Amino acid sequence: MTEQIQTLTITAPDDWHIHLRDNDALKTTVPHVASQFRRAICMPNLVPPVKTTQDAIAYRERILANVPTDSISQQFEPLMVLYLTENLTPQDIQDAVDSGVVKAVKLYPAGATTNSADGVTNINNCTDVFAKMESIGLPLLVHGEVTHNHVDIFDREKRFIDEVLTHLIVKFPKLKIVFEHITTSDAADFVISQSKNIAATITPQHLLFNRNHLLVGGVKPHFYCLPILKRQSHQEVLLDVATSGNPKFFIGTDSAPHATHTKENACGCAGCYSAPFALSLYAQAFDSVGKLENLENFTSINGAKFYGLPVNSDKVTLVRESWQVPENYEYVGNKTLTPLMAGQMLDWKVLPFGFAV
Ligand code: NCD
Ligand code: ZN
Repeated sequence: MTEQIQTLTITAPDDWHIHLRDNDALKTTVPHVASQFRRAICMPNLVPPVKTTQDAIAYRERILANVPTDSISQQFEPLMVLYLTENLTPQDIQDAVDSGVVKAVKLYPAGATTNSADGVTNINNCTDVFAKMESIGLPLLVHGEVTHNHVDIFDREKRFIDEVLTHLIVKFPKLKIVFEHITTSDAADFVISQSKNIAATITPQHLLFNRNHLLVGGVKPHFYCLPILKRQSHQEVLLDVATSGNPKFFIGTDSAPHATHTKENACGCAGCYSAPFALSLYAQAFDSVGKLENLENFTSINGAKFYGLPVNSDKVTLVRESWQVPENYEYVGNKTLTPLMAGQMLDWKVLPFGFAV
C-alpha cells in the first residue's frame, strides 16, 4: 500500500473567478477570499454592473477597504473585470489596460445568469472590441451558455460552443479566451482541441458533484448554480482534465454568495458559496482520484501563466485533518449565508498563510 500524503505545501493560490458582491456584503466575502487566495478575478455582475474603468477602480477601492488589516491579508490583490456591453469601444479597452487595474473583460449572454440582464444580445456588435483585445492581449472571459428559452438548460453549454464560441475563435484566433466554469465533457474536449489561447476554469462543485446531488432525494438548493450541475459522466471528465496538469485548466471557484433565504426559496438563486474553504474543496477533489501532486498546477500556476502574470512567490500548507464546514456565516443585514457542503466533513485543512507544520 502506498503511504497517504499527510501534508502538502504548494505555491499560494489565486482565484480566477469569484463574486464578492458590493457594499456590506464585502465585509463577509473579502476577508474570506483574502484568507485563501493571493489574487482574485472579481466578477463585474453588480447592480449596476462594472462597465467602465472608472467603475472598476471605484469597486477595487471598496474591496480593498474591506481587506483585514493584518500584514498577510493585506497582500491580497483584487483583479478587476469589465462587464462587456455593446457600447464598449476599442478606446475603452485601451484605457482599461492603461489603468493597470483591469485584467479581463467578461461576456455574459443577456439573461444567462444572476444580474446579466445588461449582457450582450448580439455578439456581432462587439467585433471592434474583440479585435482590440486580441491585439492588446486582454483576455475575454465567457459565460458559455446560450440563453434562448427553447434550449434545454442541460444543453446550453454545448450549444454555446457550437453556435457562438467556435465562430468567435475562427474570427479572432489570437484572442485569449477563458471558457468560464465549464461543466461538460464537450467543453473540456473543445478546450483541449483548441490553441493555447483557449483555457477554462473549473469550480469545486463541478468536480465534486453532479446533478444527482442536486435532485435525488429532494431538491438541494445549495447545489444549484449556473451553469447547472450535469450528469456524472461529465463530472468524471472534468475531474480528469483538472487533475491532469494540462496548463489549459485552472481554478475559478465561482463562489457566488446569496443569502440563505434567497436560495431556500420557491424561486431560489443560482450560486454556491465556497470562498472561505475553497482550497480544501479542490484538495478533496484531487485526493479522490489520487492526483494531489497536480493540485498546485491547477490552483497556483496555470492561471497566472495564462493571464501573463507572475506566479506567487510564497507558499501555503494543507494538512490532512478532518474538519466540519460551518452551517452558515453572517451576511448582509443580519442574514446568513449557507456555504456549499454546510455541516459536512472535509479531509483537508488549509493552514493560515505564513504557517507551516
Ligand atoms: C453567479 C452569481 O450568483 O453571480 N451564479 C452562479 O450560479 N454561478 C453568476 C455566474 O457566475 O453565473
Ligand atoms: Zn460566476
